[in-house]
Amino acid sequence: MPITIPEGAKYSRIMSVGAARGSRVVDNAEMCTMIDSTPEWIEQRTGIYERRWVAEGETALTLAVDASRKAIERSGLSVEQIDTVIISTVSHYMNTPSMATLLANELGMPEPAAFDISAACAGFSYGVGMADALVRAGNATHVLVVGSEVLSEYIDITDRSTAFLFGDGAGAVVIGPGDQPAIGPTVWGSDPTAHEVIEIDHWREVEDGRPYIHMEGRAVFRWATTAIAQKTKEALELAGITPEELDVFIPHQANNRITDSMLRHLKLPEDVVVARDIHHMGNTSAASIPLAIEALLESGQATSGQTALIIGFGAGLVYAGQVITLP
Ligand SMILES: CC(C)(COP(=O)(O)OP(=O)(O)OC[C@H]1O[C@@H](n2cnc3c(N)ncnc32)[C@H](O)[C@@H]1OP(=O)(O)O)[C@@H](O)C(=O)NCCC(=O)NCCS
Repeated sequence: MPITIPEGAKYSRIMSVGAARGSRVVDNAEMCTMIDSTPEWIEQRTGIYERRWVAEGETALTLAVDASRKAIERSGLSVEQIDTVIISTVSHYMNTPSMATLLANELGMPEPAAFDISAACAGFSYGVGMADALVRAGNATHVLVVGSEVLSEYIDITDRSTAFLFGDGAGAVVIGPGDQPAIGPTVWGSDPTAHEVIEIDHWREVEDGRPYIHMEGRAVFRWATTAIAQKTKEALELAGITPEELDVFIPHQANNRITDSMLRHLKLPEDVVVARDIHHMGNTSAASIPLAIEALLESGQATSGQTALIIGFGAGLVYAGQVITLP
C-alpha cells in the first residue's frame, strides 16, 4: 500500500514577531568596573554601548515566554493553533526536558511538537528554515520559532576579551502558510574543523559551577568577514533578489565591524536599512536577529512587507540565512 503523504502549503511566511529583553541595562562604564578595559575600546572595537542582562526572577525561559506571548497575540492565532515549537538556545540548564516543552507548558499549549536546536548564533535562521520546510511539506501548520539566551550567566568575567560582548534576550516569530513567496531558500552549513573556536564547555571551579564561554575572537572575526560574507551573498542570489531590491539587512549582531565588512562585500545601496541592535543589546546569540527585527519594526525604521536578508553565524562553527518578507 502506498503511504499517504500530507499536502503542504505552497508558501510559508513569518506572520508576527515578539521580543523580550533582560531588564537590567549594563553600560560600558559599568562593564569596565568588572573588567580591565575602557568604554571607548569596547565602543570602537564592537559598536556596543550597553547590553541587557537579566534581573532577579528573569531566565531564558521567562524571556522566551514573554516574547512568544507577544508573537502569538500579534499573529491573531490562539495558542491551541500553534502545532510546533522550535527553540534555539545555548542557555538551557537541562539536557532534558527541552526548553521547548517547558515553554509549551507555560503557554498552555495542549500537545505541540516541541524541540530545541543547538545552532548557537545561527539558530534562529536554522529554525526559520526548518519551519518553512515543515509548513510547505504539510507536517506543520503554525510553527513558533524562538531564540532565547541568558549569556550573562555564561561569561567568564576574568576574560576581558569576551566578557563585554554578550547580553540577554528572546525573540519569537510565528510561521504559517502564505499565498506568495515570503521565505527564500535557506543557505546553511558549517565548518566542523573549527569546532574549538567558540565553546561553552569550560567549568568554573566553584560550588555552583557552570560552564563558560571560551572564544578565539580573531578567528571568528576572520571567518565571518570572509566565508560568511560570501554565504550572505548566496542567500540573496538564491532568492533572486538583487542588492537594489533589498530593503533591510539584518545580520547576527556579533560586532558592528563585521556588519560593516559584510556591507562592503555585498555592495548594498546606501538606502538599505541595516540593523545595529548591537549598540544596545550586545551579542544575544540565537535571539539577536528576531530582537533586531522587532526593534526595527517598532521604531518604524522598517515596515511590514519589506524584503530583508538575515544571516546568523557562530559556534559550531555554523551558519544559516535567508531572504524574508518582514511580518
Ligand atoms: C572579540 C573582539 C571584539 C576583539 O577585538 P579585536 O580587534 O579582534 O581585538 P584583539 O583580540 O585582536 O585584541 C587587540 C588588543 O586589545 C586587547 N584587548 C582585548 N580585549 C580588550 C578589552 N576588553 N579592553 C582593552 N583591550 C583589550 C588585546 O589584549 C590586544 O592587545 P595586544 O595587541 O597588546 O595583544 C573581536 O575579535 C570580535 O568581535 N570577534 C568576533 C566575535 C564574535 O563575533 N563572536 C561571536 C560569534 S557568534
